[in-house]
Amino acid sequence: MSGTSYEGKTVLITGANGAIGTATAKLLAERGAEVFAVDIPGTDWSAFRNAVGHEDRVATGEADVTLEKDVKGYVEAAKARFGKIDVFFNNAGVEGPVAELPDLKIDDLRKVFDVNVVGVVLGLKYVLKEMYAAGKGAVVNTSSVAGLGGSPGMTPYISSKHAVLGVTRTAALEGAPKGVRVNCVNPGPIDSRMMDSINTGQGDKEKMHDATASAVPMARYGTPVEVAGLVAFLGSDDAGYCNGGFYTVDGGMTAT
Ligand SMILES: NC(=O)c1ccc[n+]([C@@H]2O[C@H](COP(=O)([O-])OP(=O)(O)OC[C@H]3O[C@@H](n4cnc5c(N)ncnc54)[C@H](O)[C@@H]3O)[C@@H](O)[C@H]2O)c1
Repeated sequence: MSGTSYEGKTVLITGANGAIGTATAKLLAERGAEVFAVDIPGTDWSAFRNAVGHEDRVATGEADVTLEKDVKGYVEAAKARFGKIDVFFNNAGVEGPVAELPDLKIDDLRKVFDVNVVGVVLGLKYVLKEMYAAGKGAVVNTSSVAGLGGSPGMTPYISSKHAVLGVTRTAALEGAPKGVRVNCVNPGPIDSRMMDSINTGQGDKEKMHDATASAVPMARYGTPVEVAGLVAFLGSDDAGYCNGGFYTVDGGMTAT
């Protein structure tokens, strides 16, 4: 096992059954963490369980992150199972459909904001109460390179991920005097269902896949575990002076 140890740390992850959530749960469990993994009601956890293992230290819970009672419920369930929350990976997100502004359905914008912004804020509302009471904690929100620049046809996703940056900065300022750090990660294109969905929405899936890869200086997609490695760092004491920041993991995409 290499990397920072998570022995004795409890990590709460939303969107845990997705590509990045699963990779992060696996990496942190391998490093010794107790993991409380949350995803949408009705989730089939079999692939997650096979990938992550460590069943003695990895528990699952189901909640819709857009519903306040569900969010309160997953925080209570995590506390009931492991007694504390040291690290919160506030990661659930949806991409929404691709449509240029004249064709945008406002309901689609609302649905994306509900998960990507309201869900993230609700998670902070209930987890920060616990962390403030403990006088310590680390939160990693998932923004995106889509939180740092525009992309045609992607107004709901782009604007929601920009909002995550603002939420992160505000939460970091509130949390700093209480011993809690809040940062966000900004992944570039990661080889995953979500990128396949966006590529399909933007036209020919294969063509868009190749065009996206060639827009990255490293000329490839990232992997979910490459995001997990950054989350592991930001959640750890090694990142003790990192607060209110955004951290790209994008093969150099935003360096151009
Ligand atoms: N895949 C990429 O290329 C990429 C790049 C940048 C940022 N991101 C962000 O990373 C995060 C994880 O993405 P991923 O690639 O693992 O996608 P994914 O679709 O594999 O995982 C997202 C998870 O969130 C869950 N979720 C969605 N709505 C929910 C709700 N209302 N309540 C509870 N859970 C809900 C889904 O069930 C899913 O398991 C997202 O916030 C995404 O926007 C992804």
